[in-house]
Amino acid sequence: MHQNRKDIAVLVGSHRKDSINRRAALALAGLGPESVALDLVEASHLPFYNQDFDADAASAPASYSDFRRRIARADGVLFITPEYNRSYPAVLKNAIDIGTRPYGKNVWSGKPGAVISISLGALGGFGANQQLRQQLANVNMAVLQQPEIYIGNAGALFDGDGKVAVETTRDLLRGFIASFAAWTDRAGTAAAA
Ligand code: FNR
Repeated sequence: MHQNRKDIAVLVGSHRKDSINRRAALALAGLGPESVALDLVEASHLPFYNQDFDADAASAPASYSDFRRRIARADGVLFITPEYNRSYPAVLKNAIDIGTRPYGKNVWSGKPGAVISISLGALGGFGANQQLRQQLANVNMAVLQQPEIYIGNAGALFDGDGKVAVETTRDLLRGFIASFAAWTDRAGTAAAA
């Protein structure tokens, strides 16, 4: 945490090398207000959650404690997700589950959050976005309600150099990240009070 800066952890639901969601995450880093720092947090290397890991601290994979620490110290969390079979990918569900345990140590609770869904399909990952929002409510995140962002037909919107290729999409994302920065300020202050 930094005094006037908001540190936002960014979780991407795809880890393939040419992922459009990952490209969007990289592009977003250049679109935010100066007060926002986006930090890509990897989740794809996390072993599948198993309740046996909670037996004692030594049982849990080292990657779990590092992941939980990075989420716990973030001022907010931005999820950028593709849609797999009308839902969000298992890599995100696994990360969410890991963050809720051990029991009583839910790192998501009270944290400002936001969701962007990006898809090759026309519906912009609506199903993934809605199901993820439902899950984030369950883990007690303070999720930005509006603006909602569903980006469809996204095959050519983001290039490999961390740039948004289309101006209207760039403007949309710039507005979104500014809204999320303001939300992080408000919701984070409320959670701390
Ligand atoms: C998909 N895709 C997809 N797209 C969509 O709009 N709705 C869907 O339900 C699905 N289902 C789905 C399932 C599985 C298993 C795969 C692999 C893909 C297509 C998806 O939008 C496309 O692969 C994106 O390119 C995935 O995002 P990344 O990896 O480019 O970020």
